[in-house]
Amino acid sequence: MPRFLTAGESHGKCLITIIEGFPAGLRLDLQFINQELKRRQQGYGRGERMKIEHDEVEVLSGVRLGRTTGAPITFLIENKDFPSWEEIMSLEERKVEPVIVPRPGHADLGGYLKYGLEDLRDVIERASARETAARVAVGAVAKLLLREFNIDIFSFTIAIGKTRVKWEGDWESIKEKAELSPLRCPEVSGEEKMKEEIDEAREKGDSLGGIFQVVAIGVPPGLGSYVQWDRRLDARLAYAIMSIPAVKGVEIGEGFTSASLPGSAVQDEILYDRKEGFFRLTNRAGGIEGGVSNGEAIIIRGAVKPVPTLSKPLRSVHLRTKQSLPAHKERADVCVVPSAGVIAEAMTAWVIASAFLEKFGVDSLEDIKESYTTYLERLKRM
Ligand SMILES: Cc1cc2nc3c(=O)[nH]c(=O)nc-3n(C[C@H](O)[C@H](O)[C@H](O)COP(=O)(O)O)c2cc1C
Repeated sequence: MPRFLTAGESHGKCLITIIEGFPAGLRLDLQFINQELKRRQQGYGRGERMKIEHDEVEVLSGVRLGRTTGAPITFLIENKDFPSWEEIMSLEERKVEPVIVPRPGHADLGGYLKYGLEDLRDVIERASARETAARVAVGAVAKLLLREFNIDIFSFTIAIGKTRVKWEGDWESIKEKAELSPLRCPEVSGEEKMKEEIDEAREKGDSLGGIFQVVAIGVPPGLGSYVQWDRRLDARLAYAIMSIPAVKGVEIGEGFTSASLPGSAVQDEILYDRKEGFFRLTNRAGGIEGGVSNGEAIIIRGAVKPVPTLSKPLRSVHLRTKQSLPAHKERADVCVVPSAGVIAEAMTAWVIASAFLEKFGVDSLEDIKESYTTYLERLKRM
């Protein structure tokens, strides 16, 4: 099983990630990886921090002469903001002003109780979504692998606050429109309303959530399995998407809508054509049945809650005096839905790439290509 770990604090020197179990022979396009990092940083509603950071990876291991070697791949992403935090983030013992009033909706109180800490800064620094920059770098490597097999993953915003948009057109045009939009929204008039809602929230010292959709096209049938709970592709995707900070709901295909419909309006009928093979006219299942990909586009939606740090803070409690006080506040985003979509692409790419490597081999890209071709030939005969 391929795996990865990340390390690093939000205002520490850097973020680090190690990817293990990825095949040799993959061309590592650094420009693409850095472009993915840039996509995560954009979005109407992000805060001041993103104006400071210009994320780029430095490759420390696992790559030689432009290609992966099969050894662990290590990336380093510098935190450009570190110099202004050097004292607070000091490795040496010293006195600093502690953060002592936890923010509702953040890891602050849970982390304080769990680890017996004295300063909430220790929780804040690692619970911060800054860590997701490392995940996007990992996802970019997964995307590079999937590209070799014509699998493409993209995302777009479908709701922010009370505004929900409907979209039209094929996947390619939706993807293009989303890439051009500061909210990653494929529908222009809806986007204007979303911006107004964000501006209003900012003025009120509040924050806003929403919904993103991730689409994976070109995924072959047969990834994941029904034979054990933890092999189910839908379960693995839900886990990965739910692990993104602020994501509070995940659905695959028609998800929650299907709960109120009769079975005949939910399942996708199976048809056959000599040239096409098996095919469907609908994709309500979102490309996964019984935990196995069925060859249709994989469709995942994630509900993002409004970010917890508010410039007009909610009530909280001073951890030592137990006095009721407004929660701690610091520089924060107002709305992170578009960025969450990009992070969700990365997590989706990772899960699909992992399932792909499990099925077709993990050591050498050349061997994987051979195995994949043989599989596609077998499918054609069925
Ligand atoms: C890209 C991104 C940026 C975020 N920025 C902030 C932020 O500036 N301030 C904040 O309070 N929360 C922010 N969050 C959300 C928190 O990280 C998250 O709500 C917190 O870690 C608690 O986790 P939970 O909401 O999953 O329970 C962000 C989330 C994402 C995905």
